[in-house]
Amino acid sequence: MALPSRVKIVEVSPRDGLQNEKEFVPTDVKVELVDRLSAAGFPNVEAASFVSPKWVPQMADGADVMARIQRRPGTIYSVLTPNMKGFEGALAARADEIVIFGAASEAFSQKNINCSIAESIARFEPVVQAAREAGIRVRGSISCALGCPYQGEVPVEAVADVAQRYLAMQVDEIDVADTIGVGTPKRVREVMAAVTRVVDPARVSGHFHDTYGQALANILAALESGISIFHTSVAGLGGCPYAKGATGNVATEDVLYMLRGLDIETGVDFDAVVDIGQWMSSHLNRKGSSRAGNAIAAKRAA
Ligand code: HMG
Ligand code: MG
Repeated sequence: MALPSRVKIVEVSPRDGLQNEKEFVPTDVKVELVDRLSAAGFPNVEAASFVSPKWVPQMADGADVMARIQRRPGTIYSVLTPNMKGFEGALAARADEIVIFGAASEAFSQKNINCSIAESIARFEPVVQAAREAGIRVRGSISCALGCPYQGEVPVEAVADVAQRYLAMQVDEIDVADTIGVGTPKRVREVMAAVTRVVDPARVSGHFHDTYGQALANILAALESGISIFHTSVAGLGGCPYAKGATGNVATEDVLYMLRGLDIETGVDFDAVVDIGQWMSSHLNRKGSSRAGNAIAAKRAA
């Protein structure tokens, strides 16, 4: 299949990137991160989570973050909402998009959101309905689409089944998520083929963690499968507190570098993203994991 000429990048570092940080990242830093990402031209920034602060303390200041960011006209600011309580927070925070997050693995669903897949779908239904009534976009994330830390193999049919349930609820976009970064390109093709048999590929996104170093190859496989929306995180920050051992999302800098080499447009300012990755890493007192970001920074310093 021909590659797309343009790709939508959803920058998830303020949420997926920071949710797993042990030290609380000050609200000021989170706000600055979102504002810098907006200015760099990302069409969609995942800015916060409205989840239980006992489960994910790092995301407890989501309402403050959303209140203080400078919204760039046209940018979609997304937040995670596991239930109606989360939705009420998202509505009050004027989120442009909510994300319901289920899983293709029963074991992970229990660990992450404390309910079965069927219970999660029942919980999401009123959330999606309320969002639609309020004119808010809805994204449905499918965790463990390429493997589960507790259950191991996840059949592609299980992923397509959750996608179908989301579609029945009329979600706008469906995220195929490799939560623990175990997928390889062949499996990505199989999963994307199964999902795009039920969902228009234009509404499907790839959310790849890079634990096993496969994320760029997986994105290329997904591009070849007709997918044109990808989630990335500056400096490769990220990870789910309920997916032990999993590392961050694929680094935005690396993806932008690859897409530029493929002549695929994103509308995002690559040099600004390199700066943001270096700035955020220095705040966290460690070197970021983006190979392209670190290479450019080293070249600039030489
Ligand atoms: P629960 O304990 O079953 O919920 O947790 P509950 O309804 O029984 O409520 C228990 C307490 O939590 C109550 O407070 C509620 O008010 C409160 P208490 O009376 O004990 O003081 N509560 C809330 N507080 C704030 N916001 C809310 C909320 N809901 C309940 N929305 C629950 C169920 C879903 C709430 C919990 O399991 C939870 O918050 N889980 C979130 C887990 C999470 O955020 N994981 C990381 C994000 S997912 C991810 O990273 C994967 C992704 O990147 C894709 C991929 O890579 O796979 C998206
Ligand atoms: Mg994730």
